[in-house]
Order: sequence, then structure tokens, then C-alpha cells
Amino acid sequence: FLYGKFILNDRLKILKNIAILISGTGSNMEAIINDTLSNDHPGVVKFVLSNRSDALGLLKAKKLGIKTFVFPVNRTNSLENFEKKLLKLLIKEKIDLLCLAGFMKVLSKKFLINFRGNVLNIHPSILPSLKGLNTHKRILEKKSITHGATVHKVIPELDSGKILGQTTIKISKGDTHDKLAKKLIKKERYLYIKVIRNIMTGKNKIIQID
Ligand code: GRF
Repeated sequence: FLYGKFILNDRLKILKNIAILISGTGSNMEAIINDTLSNDHPGVVKFVLSNRSDALGLLKAKKLGIKTFVFPVNRTNSLENFEKKLLKLLIKEKIDLLCLAGFMKVLSKKFLINFRGNVLNIHPSILPSLKGLNTHKRILEKKSITHGATVHKVIPELDSGKILGQTTIKISKGDTHDKLAKKLIKKERYLYIKVIRNIMTGKNKIIQID
């Protein structure tokens, strides 16, 4: 009887649905997908969407068997249109959690209000310090000895939502912005997958990875 119950529970296990937005390499995206493939993960990645057809991450997602979409944003295709199509897809696929992973567009307030699920982003700085672009370069200019990344909830103000997790790296003499980016991306992936598991299992603690 117990064995039977176990099987039943296992079959009925309800997974939460994740979608990922990318614009480029997709290494955070790849880590998220790989993590969801393990049996104990509470979520499943339903699709990856890019605003750029040349995003390398699209190929990686396809290789991992994930559905991909491209909705371009350019002179003839507005961000408003992108968001309309995205919202339809999110509703159709019953998405609970939308993860931005190197997605280089700023989602509008209207979109964020209309989508009822959680939206997360990963930003390569220890927020609230260094919002915006070129953070590796800017941290070197500041002559800081520490750099890092933050996973936060997305709100209309750029890089400003509730902080859910942070990771840090030490800056060594001779580090260039490229070197920093390479060092940090490894820890970013680890941070992002931890935060996602944390939020999906309803835990509220802030993740700190040093
Ligand atoms: C990461 O540094 C992330 O923090 C920032 O964009 C970069 C994306 O890298 N938002 P990847 O596409 O996940 O490799």
C-alpha cells in the first residue's frame, strides 16, 4: 500500500512552470534548464524566448529539448508588441515564474502589472550599487576590491526590485573587465538556480553565496 501511494504521489506531483527570456549567450539559462532536469526540482522550463534571432542561448535551449521562440524588437517590431505576444504565451503555457537571464530590454510597468506571476532578473553587481550597464568596467574604475551579482524581483524601476540573493567575488590585481565577467558568471549560475529553488518552494530567506 505504501509503495502504491508513493508512486501515486510521484505521478501527481505538480510542477511549477518557468519561462526564460534571453538576448545572448544564455549560460544562466542553461544552468536553470539543467537544474530543472533533476528529479527533485519543483519546476519545469516550458519555453525560452529571445528578442534576438542570433542569441547563442537559443541553440543551447534547443539542444536541451526546450521550445524556443523569437519575437524581434526593432524599428518595425515594438517592445509593446513583444510584450503582448509574450503575455499571451505566458498565459497559454500557465507560467508561474518568468526568469530574465541576460535579457537586454526593460519590461514595461503595464506588462509587469498584467502578468500575475513572479519575474526575476540577475544583475552583475552587488545591488543597489551599480545599476545599469557595464558593471565590470565600472567596478574596476571604482577601485573596489569586491564585485558580485544579485538576483532580484523585477519592478518597473531598473535593477531595483526586492533582493532575493547575492554572490561576491574578490577583485585581484590585473583583473580586466573580461576576466571579472568570466569569474562572475560561474557564481551567477549557481546563485540563480539556488534562488529559483528557494522561491519555488515558498522559502523566504535571502541567499548569500561568498
Ligand atoms: C550576466 O552577466 C547577467 O548577470 C547579465 O547578463 C549576463 C548574461 O549572461 N544580466 P548569459 O547570457 O547568462 O551568459
